[in-house]
Order: sequence, then C-alpha cells, then structure tokens
Amino acid sequence: VITVTTSVSFSAAHDYRREEWSDDKNRAVFGLCANPEGHGHNYRVLVTVSGPVDLETGMVINFDQLHPLLISCVTAELDHVYLNRQIPFFASRIPTLENVALYLWQRLSPEIAALGVTLTRIRVYEHDDLFVDYDGFLGETAAA
Ligand code: NI
Repeated sequence: VITVTTSVSFSAAHDYRREEWSDDKNRAVFGLCANPEGHGHNYRVLVTVSGPVDLETGMVINFDQLHPLLISCVTAELDHVYLNRQIPFFASRIPTLENVALYLWQRLSPEIAALGVTLTRIRVYEHDDLFVDYDGFLGETAAA
C-alpha cells in the first residue's frame, strides 16, 4: 500500500469543561484547560490517503485535488473559531486532541472517498511534542 500525506494548519480556541461538574472537579480533571475563558492552539493536521497508483499519472492522488479540499474543510472551517461554541460536534464533546481527530475523520472521510482514494490516517498536532493518530477504527463508536 502506498500512502500519501499532506498537511494543513489552523489556529483555534477551546476550553475543557463539563458544565455538570463543579469548578473544583473541572480544575482537578482538566487543570488550566478548564479556564472558561478559553485558550488557543496552533493545530497541524496531517491527512494520509491511500489507493492504487494511477497508470497514466503515476499518482495515488493529485496534490492539486487533495490540498484545496483540506483548505476548504479544515482551515476555512476551523481557523480562528472557538471550537466549543462554533462547531456543533463539540457542543457535546470536549474538544480534546482525540475528539478533534474524530471530528476531522467524520468531516473528511466522505470528501476524500469522493476523490477516489481512502482516508487512512488523521494525525493532529497541538504542539510539536503532542499529537494524536486516528485510523478510523479505534473509538469508532465514540465518533458516532
Ligand atoms: Ni488546549
């Protein structure tokens, strides 16, 4: 299997809080991330697709098709938004890195399938030293 990976970035705000929990419990579980005023990250998203190598083009996917899709579905929709407040997926889910990966999988998988290739991995970085990988299987039920 040959995979092709490209990346896009966005900057967004979030907070980690459960309204049904006390302030003390939110702080105990989520630490500084429980601050209701929020904080931001510069996210980097690596999207990996796979498929056969086209005999005519020699490509799995044309970057000129894939990259604009990621700009429109990731950067244009998530850049400079407050994830908890502006993205319905996060109205009921804490916008952790894990849940951002689940969201991106749900958002991108059908769009990428329409290009004739298969989404095989989403990697999301919140910092250089912290990222999450999602392959569409683990935690699938939580994404529903
Ligand atoms: Ni954070």
